[in-house]
Amino acid sequence: MKKTIRKAVFPVGGLGTRFLPATKAMPKEMLPVVDKPLIEYAVEEAKAAGIEEFIFVTGRGKSAIEDHFDHSWELETALAKKGKTEELEASRASLLRPGQVAYTRQQDPLGLGHAVWCARRITGDEPFAVLLADDLVMADEPCLSQMIEVYNETGGNIVAVMDVPRSQTDRYGILDVVSEEGRLAKARGLVEKPKPDEAPSTLSIIGRYILQPEVMQELGRQQTGAGGEIQLTDAMARTIDRVPFHGLRFAGTRFDCGSKEGFLEAQIAFALQREDLGGAMAEILSRYCVDARVAAS
Ligand code: G1P
Repeated sequence: MKKTIRKAVFPVGGLGTRFLPATKAMPKEMLPVVDKPLIEYAVEEAKAAGIEEFIFVTGRGKSAIEDHFDHSWELETALAKKGKTEELEASRASLLRPGQVAYTRQQDPLGLGHAVWCARRITGDEPFAVLLADDLVMADEPCLSQMIEVYNETGGNIVAVMDVPRSQTDRYGILDVVSEEGRLAKARGLVEKPKPDEAPSTLSIIGRYILQPEVMQELGRQQTGAGGEIQLTDAMARTIDRVPFHGLRFAGTRFDCGSKEGFLEAQIAFALQREDLGGAMAEILSRYCVDARVAAS
């Protein structure tokens, strides 16, 4: 019987330098797509997949995230007084139940692997999920739910994967694929951010993981890799001969909200899907497209 995935780790300690000045005094994970912060999309995805404990690995200047998942008494009282029930609901939607949430800090920026390792006492000897809020996935069935379904069959470590253009392999963890069956890829190795001409494939990891405690033990060795950082990809790679490893080509669209282009595309895609905004967004887009064509001609 595979152990249920009850816990999820959200590494939210990163500096967000690519979005300066917006992220000077605000965590990048609080940047909204339409009207919801990136981190809330990730938490909602985890909730939908049955996660019961939410572990945030934060850092200096990230307290807005803690406040976001808590009551805002002044706001709630004011909204209640004015009878603004819809807004009150929206403000309360992000609440996590008492004791369901834990915050720990990554004191030094030593890499994604190090951030995850900072949560080791809270994950204990259980398998757990990791969600990177920068990677926003639009899917009929939430990406983590798809992964848990697979995990219930295969066990082991599972990552969400997609093909990227070869010129971009140096932005991702890349699988050295041995075989593929349906949407599942088996790998014999993983490489963090290889140069395009050295990448073993173009199948890359996006920010969704299901990990076994063995990965935490590997992270505990504190070995550094690409960029001099402690890499999660390396720790998974070092368990590949004893822990089953699969990449799942998830069904859905991933937006790289760590880049400006991906972030802007997400705004458009998510707005178009909304009942209250889809029509307006389509109209705005067609207007700008005409303008762009006129400008280009
Ligand atoms: C991290 C991981 C990388 C993964 C990527 C997905 O990189 O190290 O393996 O492919 O997330 O977004 P980062 O984007 O933090 O540089």
